[in-house]
Amino acid sequence: MNALQRDLKKLVPLVESLGAEKAASDPHRQKFHIQPMVGWLNDPNGLCKIGDTYHAFFQYGPFDVSGGVKHWGHVTSRDLLHWDYQPTMLYPDEPFDCHGVYSGSALVEDGTMYLYYTGNVKYPGAFDYIKQGRGHNVCLAVSRDGLHIDSKQCLMYNKDYPAGLTCHVRDPKVFACEGRYYMVLGARTVEDRGEVLVLESEDKYTWRHTNTLTTPEPFGFMWECPDLFQLDGQWFLAVSPQGIECQNIYGCGYFPIYGDWRRDCILGDFYHADFGFDYYAPQSFTDETGRRIQIGWMGMPDAAYGNAATVAYGWQHCMTIPRVLTRDNAGHILQNPVSELAAHRGTAVTATDGVEQSVDACFDLVAAPGGDFSLGFDGGLTLAYSDADRTCCLTFTDAAMSGGRTSRCVVLDAPCRRLRVVGDASSLEIFLNDGAAVLSTRYYPAGDQVTLRPANFTAAVYPLNL
Ligand code: FRU
Repeated sequence: MNALQRDLKKLVPLVESLGAEKAASDPHRQKFHIQPMVGWLNDPNGLCKIGDTYHAFFQYGPFDVSGGVKHWGHVTSRDLLHWDYQPTMLYPDEPFDCHGVYSGSALVEDGTMYLYYTGNVKYPGAFDYIKQGRGHNVCLAVSRDGLHIDSKQCLMYNKDYPAGLTCHVRDPKVFACEGRYYMVLGARTVEDRGEVLVLESEDKYTWRHTNTLTTPEPFGFMWECPDLFQLDGQWFLAVSPQGIECQNIYGCGYFPIYGDWRRDCILGDFYHADFGFDYYAPQSFTDETGRRIQIGWMGMPDAAYGNAATVAYGWQHCMTIPRVLTRDNAGHILQNPVSELAAHRGTAVTATDGVEQSVDACFDLVAAPGGDFSLGFDGGLTLAYSDADRTCCLTFTDAAMSGGRTSRCVVLDAPCRRLRVVGDASSLEIFLNDGAAVLSTRYYPAGDQVTLRPANFTAAVYPLNL
């Protein structure tokens, strides 16, 4: 252990103990979503399951509620809903990761965790930190017990990447496939185009660049947090592209892949993963049942809106509920909350058409609307659907609830006939047509009860006991 790690291992628990009580007293503290004990959270990292324990790591800024130098925070769970804090897993304590232990993933083999991440380094000088002055290194930390790091090393520096790239090459997602290891890395070219590098390895330590995935026409300047996975025989590339035209400042979605992504393939049309305000940088993994579970950051980098309500209590941001990914007949990805959630449903309350109904802010609402409908939340936020143009919009009218959020819409492929809304103390995740489209948002209701006003439909609302 080096001296910096020794001191950070003391300092992080110290700032946590100083701030935890205040954060926990926040009425908007989430009940069943991953959130930082104190400070800042962004991307999910290193998602995996070992034995009966799920591990989730996250981009963690314990010293700064607005970000700061990134560590890997760590939480574990048996049911994907109750998360226990574990000691911070990775600290920015080596020359190759001293300005942040950036995003990455976990490969688990024989119970050992191989944590691949980006070591962020900013060299002193008058640099733009895009084309010069920054190191984005692929690093590997190994843990035999899933709680402590046995070794940490740098596997690749920028000089080891293909020519034509800026310094922005990050977020390794590593997986095994047909006896080999593969890594996808998000990249920004010197022409400011986003792409994903595919690398291959036989031993987990030595990597060769074998392919590059991109679109024929430029699609944004940088693709962050790539993920590559198969659903029912179809491969998908999930990315968070920066610099594309969409409702949010940055996009987040997936391409179906046609052909062999290792050699020769094309990317199909890009689909947005979520149409709400707060969704970015998701990562997925499979558990022993084979289901593919994805968790996203319920936040948006560089957004014009924010979370002042929780910042006042010294913490900011959370993850989405873990969602199971499946594929529909048209080849699109469906996202639905893990089935574990239903086990916590209390006795349903009926929210009747046209009648205000007060419910616990932690709820799971299900409905089958027949055409146009709307759903109001505390009189300050409305979800409104119009069958004529199959458009569903989420619109804030109360600044106290919005934190600066305005309106987001989705145009559905099919008429909306299924609605599910999962509410926690300060978030709503809205699943339309069995997860064909999702809108996720943070919001700040006045109390721990929320008044729902359904129009043109009646819903079953289950309080969630968590
Ligand atoms: C995405 C991202 C990643 C990076 C990390 C740093 O939100 O910018 O590309 O690794 O956050 O926290």
